[in-house]
Amino acid sequence: MSKLVPWIASPVKVVEEVTKLARIGPGDVVYDLGSGDGRVIVLTSKLTGARGVGVEIDPALIVISEEKAKEYGVQDKVKFLQKDFREVDLSEATVVYLYIYYNVIKEYLLEKLENELKPGTRVVTLEIPVPGWMPVVKRGVQDEAGVVRTLYLYIKGISEPSAWKNDEASDEWMEEFRRRLWGNVKKPSLKVADDTSG
Ligand SMILES: C[S@@+](CC[C@H](N)C(=O)[O-])C[C@H]1O[C@@H](n2cnc3c(N)ncnc32)[C@H](O)[C@@H]1O
Repeated sequence: MSKLVPWIASPVKVVEEVTKLARIGPGDVVYDLGSGDGRVIVLTSKLTGARGVGVEIDPALIVISEEKAKEYGVQDKVKFLQKDFREVDLSEATVVYLYIYYNVIKEYLLEKLENELKPGTRVVTLEIPVPGWMPVVKRGVQDEAGVVRTLYLYIKGISEPSAWKNDEASDEWMEEFRRRLWGNVKKPSLKVADDTSG
């Protein structure tokens, strides 16, 4: 196990924006790979009711994260694994958050993201794009210090290069994809209204 990135915390305002950008809700399972003091996992759970898993190599940060989860009353919804994020199975995740170096994503996580994430899983990154992937949204958000930070939103199944060659998405897959993307927003009706005005 080795520490591949130092601890730098995501600003709270950025985390709030992540919940909106990825439309996180109670049905989601959020993973933060390199979860620091646990703020992303604790806050997203507190704000949306989502379950969360933080993966962090530093045991002192795990202790802080668990204390924070209790303080915010989300200890039954979140857990923190003291592990190397390269060794964690991501198949349960519906949202993955990354605030780590470009080269670390490229060298250690890209293949895992491609192989383990389910279609429709959202990947949100702060400042650092996922190498070779196409974001569906790139959004600037002002942090507490007034500095504009950049968030990227990706969707597994359409953002990664291997998906661009896949033109065989089933109706079922597309329906699930739309549900995840738009939540419960009503689809616009294509029916032309009767004109009874004469
Ligand atoms: C830039 S910080 C981000 C913290 C948190 N995600 C946030 O946004 O506030 C990166 C974190 O990754 C952790 N880390 C570094 N290498 C790791 C590894 N191999 N496995 C798990 N965590 C690691 C560091 O200890 C640090 O807390």
